[in-house]
Amino acid sequence: MAATTRKLGLALNSLLFMLCLLPLAARAVDFPTPNVSHDMTVGSVNCANSLCHGSVTPWKSSHVLQNEYTTWLRLDKHTQTFKVLLNDQSKRIAKNLGLDKPAHESKICLDCHAHNPAPALRGERFVQNEGVGCEACHGPAGRWIKSHTIEGETHAKNIANGLYPTDQPVAQAKLCLSCHFGDQNRFVTHRIMGAGHPRISFELETFSAIEPSHVQIDDDWHQRKGEYNPIKIWAIGQVVASQQLLKTFADPKLGHDGIFPELVVFDCYACHHPMSQEKWTPRLGVGPGRIRLNDSNLLMVRAIVRVLDPVSAPELSRSIVRLHQAVSGNGDPSGKTPQETALAVAGSLDQYFAVIQKQKIDTPELRRVMSALIDEAMSGDLSDYAGAEQAYMALADLSLSLTKSGGLKSPKEVNRQLADLRKTLRHDEEYQPKVFAGQLTSLRTLITQGQM
Ligand code: HEC
Ligand code: HEC
Ligand code: HEC
Ligand code: HEC
Repeated sequence: MAATTRKLGLALNSLLFMLCLLPLAARAVDFPTPNVSHDMTVGSVNCANSLCHGSVTPWKSSHVLQNEYTTWLRLDKHTQTFKVLLNDQSKRIAKNLGLDKPAHESKICLDCHAHNPAPALRGERFVQNEGVGCEACHGPAGRWIKSHTIEGETHAKNIANGLYPTDQPVAQAKLCLSCHFGDQNRFVTHRIMGAGHPRISFELETFSAIEPSHVQIDDDWHQRKGEYNPIKIWAIGQVVASQQLLKTFADPKLGHDGIFPELVVFDCYACHHPMSQEKWTPRLGVGPGRIRLNDSNLLMVRAIVRVLDPVSAPELSRSIVRLHQAVSGNGDPSGKTPQETALAVAGSLDQYFAVIQKQKIDTPELRRVMSALIDEAMSGDLSDYAGAEQAYMALADLSLSLTKSGGLKSPKEVNRQLADLRKTLRHDEEYQPKVFAGQLTSLRTLITQGQM
C-alpha cells in the first residue's frame, strides 16, 4: 500500500506550496454528478482552442486563466487514469475478477478511470482514452458549451444548462468522492480490492491542494462565486465522506456481497493484521472480536462539531456509539435495524453544512479544532489506521492555515512534528497507535504555544 505513503508525503509538500479552490455559497440542491447527466458530452478537445482554455500561459485580461487545458494535459494525474487500465496491475485485477473484457473496455473500471457516458450521449469529438476530462468534472457541455462564452451570461444560467457547480463545496465533495470512494453508480468494492485494486484514501482539501490548480482564487473569483475557506472545505468533505459511507452500508444493493456485508465500509485493519498483534482496546462501544465500521470521517466531524456547535456535540457523540452498537455491538436498543440507524445518523449530519458555512472560522477556532482533534486521537478513539491517517491530513491542512494567519510561534517545529507523524503512518500494517499518540502530545504543545 505504498500509494498511501506517497500521498501523505505529497499532501504535506503540496500544502506548503499551494492554496486552492472553492467558495462557500451553500445551496442545498442535489445536483446529479456528470456521469449520470442526460446531456451530450462534446469532448475536452472542444475546450482546447488557444483562445478558449488551451493557452500555454495564463491571460491577464480574462476572468479565468484560459490555460486550464494545458495545465490539465501536462500536469494533472486525471489524464493518466485511462492509461492505468492498460497496465499489468489492471490486467491482473480484470483477470482475478473474471471480467469478460479487458479493464479498459469494462464499464466497471471505465466509470471512474474515464468519462463514460452512454453511447447515445457521445459527441463526434469525444475520446475516452483522455481519462477524466473536463466534462467528467464540469458536466457534459452539450447545453452550456456555447452559452458559457457569451458576455454577460451568468454562472447560475450555465448551471441551469448542465454545468456542474464545482464551486459549491458540498457539490464538489460529492463529485470527488463519487470516484474517490464511490456512490450508488460506481464503487470500488472489497471484491475489486481483493483482486488487486489499491486501498483508496481521500481527503477533500488535501487532494484539492495536490491537484495542479487550473483556477486562480482572487477577488474576481470571490465576486463571481463567493467565499473560499480551506478549513470549511476540509470540514464539509468530512461530513460528505461520512454520509457516503453510511449510505453505502445501508444500500440494499451495495451493502452486501453474498451473505456478508460489503467489507469496504469497515476498518480494513480490524481484519488485516497478524493475530500475534494483540491490539484490541475498548473503544466507542465496540467489544473485542468485532469488526468495526470505518468511522474515521465521523470522528473528524465530531471534533469539528465540538468546536463549532458544542450544544449538539453530545448527541452526535451518543449517536456514533449507538451506530457502533447497532452494527457491531448488541444491536440498537430502539429495535432499529443497523441500516436504519446508519441512515438516521447520515441524515442528522445534514444540519452541519449550514453550521460550518455560516460560521466565521479564524485563528482561535482553528486552534480549537486542532486541539479537539488531538484530544480525540489521544483518548484512543482514533486507534485505527484510517482514523490516524485522516487526523494527519487534517492536522497538516490546519497547520498550514494557522501558519498563513500567523497563528503559529514555530512553524518549523510543527512541520518537523508532522514529518514524524508521517513516518509513523508509513506502513499501514505496522501502525502503532501509542507512538502516534505520543507524537501528538508534542504537537498539541506547539499549537497552543502560539496562543496570545
Ligand atoms: C469508484 C471508482 C473506481 C472504480 C470503480 C475503479 N477504480 Fe481504480 N482507482 C480509483 C481511484 C480513485 C484510484 C486512485 C487511488 C489513490 O491513489 O488514492 C484508483 C487507482 C487504481 C489503480 C492504481 C493506479 C496507480 O497509479 O497506481 C489501478 C491499477 C486501478 N485503479 C485499476 C482499476 C481497475 C482495473 C478497475 C476495474 C476493475 C478499477 N480500477 C475500478 C477509482 C476507481
Ligand atoms: C477533477 C475534476 C476537474 C477536471 C478534470 C477539470 N476541472 Fe476545471 N475545475 C475543477 C474545480 C474543482 C474547479 C474550482 C471550482 C470552480 O471555480 O468551479 C475548477 C475550475 C475551473 C474553471 C473556473 C475558473 C473560474 O475562475 O471560475 C475553469 C474555466 C475550468 N475549471 C476549466 C476546466 C477545463 C477546460 C478542463 C479540462 C481541460 C477542466 N477544468 C478539468 C475541477 C476539474
Ligand atoms: C471520474 C472519476 C474521478 C473524479 C470525478 C475525480 N477523480 Fe481524482 N482521480 C481519479 C482516478 C481514477 C485517479 C487515479 C489516477 C492514477 O492513479 O493514475 C485520481 C487521482 C487523483 C489525484 C492524484 C492522487 C495521487 O495519488 O497523486 C488527485 C489529487 C485527485 N484525483 C483529486 C481529485 C479531486 C480534488 C476531485 C474533485 C474535484 C477529483 N479528483 C475527482 C478519478 C476521479
Ligand atoms: C471482515 C474482515 C475484512 C475487512 C473489514 C476487510 N477485509 Fe480485505 N480481506 C478479507 C478476507 C477474508 C480476504 C480474503 C483473504 C484470502 O483470500 O486469503 C481479504 C482479502 C483482501 C485483499 C487481497 C489479499 C490477497 O491475499 O490477495 C485485499 C487487497 C484486501 N482484502 C483489502 C482490504 C481493504 C483495503 C479493506 C478496507 C477498505 C479490507 N480489505 C477490509 C477480510 C476483510
